[in-house]
Amino acid sequence: MTETHAFWLAGRQATGETTLDVTSPWDGRTVAVVSVPTDAQVEEAVAAAYAVQDEFAATPAHVRAEALDHVSRRLKERTEDIARLISAENGKPMKWARGEVGRAVSVFRFAAEEARRFNGGEAQRLDTDAGGQGRLALTRRFPKGVVLGIAPFNFPLNLCAHKIAPAIAVGTPIILKPAPATPLSGLLLGELLAETELPAGSWSVLPVANDHMPQLVQDERLPVISFTGSDKVGYAIMDSVPRKHLTLELGGNGAAVVLADFASDEDLDWAATRIATFSNYQGGQSCISVQRVIVDESLHDRLLPRIVKAVEAQVTGDPSDDKTDVGPLVSEDAARRVESWVDEAVKAGAQLATGGRRDGASYAPTVLTDVPADVTISCEEVFGPVLTVQKVSGEEAAFAAVNESKYGLQAGVFTHNVQAAFRAHRALEVGGVIVGDVPSYRADQMPYGGAKQSGVGREGVRFAMDDYTYERVMVFTGIQL
Ligand code: SIN
Repeated sequence: MTETHAFWLAGRQATGETTLDVTSPWDGRTVAVVSVPTDAQVEEAVAAAYAVQDEFAATPAHVRAEALDHVSRRLKERTEDIARLISAENGKPMKWARGEVGRAVSVFRFAAEEARRFNGGEAQRLDTDAGGQGRLALTRRFPKGVVLGIAPFNFPLNLCAHKIAPAIAVGTPIILKPAPATPLSGLLLGELLAETELPAGSWSVLPVANDHMPQLVQDERLPVISFTGSDKVGYAIMDSVPRKHLTLELGGNGAAVVLADFASDEDLDWAATRIATFSNYQGGQSCISVQRVIVDESLHDRLLPRIVKAVEAQVTGDPSDDKTDVGPLVSEDAARRVESWVDEAVKAGAQLATGGRRDGASYAPTVLTDVPADVTISCEEVFGPVLTVQKVSGEEAAFAAVNESKYGLQAGVFTHNVQAAFRAHRALEVGGVIVGDVPSYRADQMPYGGAKQSGVGREGVRFAMDDYTYERVMVFTGIQL
């Protein structure tokens, strides 16, 4: 008999009247049964968050920092069992699940450090004009209001961490809605937060169904929404509440560019290994996984076989096995969608260099070449273990090819040329350029977010803290400066 997990309502455990089953994408077994809050319980959580705003904002920095440090420490202590939880609910191979826990440890640690130095206040003299004589401005940041954090399934722990930890760091309450397919990691964060002294109401973890989301999104007591997920849902939120403050981390079809100077055998081996690994990590279900390889024509014939070999070396199978690199996708439906996109590309003339097979929720690591520009896989985010290889002539053409996308999250540029790196930084319409590596590199303290249809706003602990707060200036008059 599988135990029913409670959810976290205003810092305490509660159960509702209905449940949802969390199933393993690998073998379909029921991993857990999770209690779903009723409408009245959701209302209770929102009301509690709204009511505790002032108290939470006034909580001393050391209290919030200690709570964040506590969660960081506990995540570290429990790495193995939390990684197993992520792997079970999401199908993520253990090696990647352990990495995700390590990142969440850092997110809470960074948030603790930032909480200690945030909002020291900046003084500015105003006697630069006669009208400002004897005046001094002091600027501090204050919370915009209660945050509604909506997290996706692909990093069920760390993307919840990126919503919750900055909120605690600035002292603003948060209602976290984890993804219905993977609520266990978010609920686990609740378990660790419940061990702290944070005020009741300052956080809730509510595994409500997606069809309950519009009600939360519309709630005026939740003026800040931090959403990670598809562009379709993200823009539907934006259109429905254009006056709210939104951070939208949406899709991407990450490009890895290999420029002509990255030409030694060692260079190409490195590029191929990184490309193969990061087009397939988490089954390609990352917004910054490598989807498009754009290679200078002078290197194409040496790089492609290396990529194919490295992709074929990826170990597929049971995510609970330490040797597995690539597990299943989140569901069989997701794998069927990827299959249909690959089939469409092949029918339109693309060549399958390797892969192209589905087995239940698993899709084989796949490389496509000669892909027409107008097929779905060239235009949309595949969110699966598939990469396309495109040959271009020269740097300008390579950068133009990166920009031929409605998305702009991150891009990787393999080059040793510092000038080319700076040209890429200027030319590429993305939120981040990774030089010498794939677009998939993310350090959790960096600003992270997109240009174009990859979203608005930035995460990355300090940047989310800025996003959750606004500057309020206080002007002193009659001061001897
Ligand atoms: C995402 O898929 O947007 C998150 C990627 C990451 O945190 O590495």
